[in-house]
Amino acid sequence: MLKFEPSHALKRLPEQFFAKLVKTTQALIKEGHDVINLGQGNPDLPTPDFIVEALQEASTNPKFHKYSPFQGYPFLKEAVADFYQREYQVDIDPNKEVAIMFGSKTGLVEISQCLLNPKEKVLVPDPGYPDYMSGIALTDAIPIHMPLKEENQFLPNYQQISDEDLADAKLMFLNYPNNPTAATATKNFFDDTIEVAKQNQICVVHDFAYGAIGFEEDKPQSFLQSEGAKEVGIEMYTLSKTFNMAGWRVAFAVGNPSVIEAIELIQDHYYVSIFGAIQSAAKTALDEGKSAIAELNHTYQQRRDAFLQQAEKIGWHGGTANGSFFVWMPTPKGYNSESFANLLLEKAHVVVAPGNGFGASGEGYVRIGLLDEPDRLREACDRIGKLSLF
Ligand SMILES: Cc1ncc(COP(=O)(O)O)c(C=O)c1O
Repeated sequence: MLKFEPSHALKRLPEQFFAKLVKTTQALIKEGHDVINLGQGNPDLPTPDFIVEALQEASTNPKFHKYSPFQGYPFLKEAVADFYQREYQVDIDPNKEVAIMFGSKTGLVEISQCLLNPKEKVLVPDPGYPDYMSGIALTDAIPIHMPLKEENQFLPNYQQISDEDLADAKLMFLNYPNNPTAATATKNFFDDTIEVAKQNQICVVHDFAYGAIGFEEDKPQSFLQSEGAKEVGIEMYTLSKTFNMAGWRVAFAVGNPSVIEAIELIQDHYYVSIFGAIQSAAKTALDEGKSAIAELNHTYQQRRDAFLQQAEKIGWHGGTANGSFFVWMPTPKGYNSESFANLLLEKAHVVVAPGNGFGASGEGYVRIGLLDEPDRLREACDRIGKLSLF
């Protein structure tokens, strides 16, 4: 048997930090333990019925059994523009300012290939969603980490980035509500970001995966709500979290037409667009999903409150949970992210994600996914409380 060497690009890909965690969790479950898994980001609830029914109906339409138009159906792009107008009062041209994508993970990886050349610099949040780094590695670009610190409400501090790095950077990833810190961004922060981006000619990619899930403010801020945003960037939005559609793989990018054009160009070469019936059901979700979004927020708010109240009771303080379906909790004295996560796994059978897996600045924290019922979240806290760490 010949063994073929993977390309240099593949060899540059970062190790999948969480693969080990998934394996250990599976092993414990297989041994028959009652594991409370709060370690991953996979929504536990089903897609609302009205969307599933829309897919069932659309799947019988022979039109959708053919190849879809390469860049997606215009009806979905129009639904995206209507959604942004209704939800955020943002004008989007469905012909030039929307790209349909196979989930936002794909978009977030391919955007680096779209805009970066080898050895060019890109600003990335630390801690941050690991897949930004995958696209950067495939492109052989240079990541410049922007630490997200508690004292800055987990927003990057542009004053602390060197003038040289700002001048060199071509791309910047941002993500609010944030995975993993559960922080949200203000309009002021996005306004400042646009200034920095204009001055330095940086393309901003705002990952709005958790756009539908916010607690402290009325509603999470879209980057495109800030004046001038479209001049300097795009926002990526996924249906995975908003409508519990992670398995369906539907997302879109909206904003700067030149970036949208680049995404569509690369996708013309990689794929034919998503199954038409899924695009049709995605339109139904966007058009008719208002009450489903409100219900989703209510569900996560109840879970968040249940977790935080019980955490307080066991003396575990200092969590952040303003948006997304995560809580970002500090580790107790004497433990780092990994040793604490391992302890919880072994002694409490509770799975949490160690913060350092999202970047060096995530050290000292763990990420809790609010992906189980309130009773189970309380039980997780009680099990942790029995370890007498706080
Ligand atoms: C911050 C963030 N961005 C993007 C994604 C990707 O979502 P999808 O590929 O399902 O659209 C995730 C998924 O966990 C995420 O947490």
